[in-house]
Amino acid sequence: MARRYFIAGNWKMNKTAAEAKALIEGIKALEGSQTQVDVAVCTPFTALDAASKALAGSTIKLGAENLYPKASGAYTGEISPDMLKEFDCAYVILGHSERREYFKESDEFINEKVRFALENGLKPILCVGETLAQREGGQTIEVVSSQTKKGLASISADSAKNVVIAYEPVWAIGTGKTATPAMAQEVHAQIRKILSELFGADTAENMQILYGGSMKPENADELLKEKDIDGGLIGGAALKAESFVSLIKSAICAASR
Ligand code: 13P
Repeated sequence: MARRYFIAGNWKMNKTAAEAKALIEGIKALEGSQTQVDVAVCTPFTALDAASKALAGSTIKLGAENLYPKASGAYTGEISPDMLKEFDCAYVILGHSERREYFKESDEFINEKVRFALENGLKPILCVGETLAQREGGQTIEVVSSQTKKGLASISADSAKNVVIAYEPVWAIGTGKTATPAMAQEVHAQIRKILSELFGADTAENMQILYGGSMKPENADELLKEKDIDGGLIGGAALKAESFVSLIKSAICAASR
């Protein structure tokens, strides 16, 4: 398989700069400097400087959790791609369900951010996923398809190679409930079908589609066995070195199968 597994931590609003340094030192001590799978930590803005310094010399990449789609200007409280790149950020999480829900981010705004991230050399991790009501209403495929298409509108196949998709069923985030491997695989396959329609089969085959939503050491092996699940976007389990490294090891195992 050409695709590499990818384990990314989404720290959300957790960890001060000092705590970020300690967590990264812990991850590095356990993980060594493996190169079999891709790994990133996406930290709060205020921890990026400390995280970037702590990651020096490691194979772990740095990511941010959001950006504003302008180069600079009167946008109080917002962050531009250049500000993130100053700390060697490679990735940026966009369209997370928490931002869609609490900050009312629309698919159109998220698409603007995805395009601006790509234009500025950052790799977006675009999150999509249905709510419990939408799943129970039989709308999962429709919702995820629409979020994927709208999030990726006006992007060329060449740029799409730098996009990572994260399927995160909203009802599974932080709840301890995980989609079964079969449930997740069904949606991942649908996302890859859409990527194929948008960008061609070759590009779609090479794009990473991560699962997110209560992924932890106990369920990672089963999820990562699925054909279209290329890794995880990890919330709670990314906040402790032991559990995050255990997920990296699951991905290394899956990659060597
Ligand atoms: P949890 O792993 O805590 O469920 O969070 C998943 C998530 O939202 C990652 O972006």
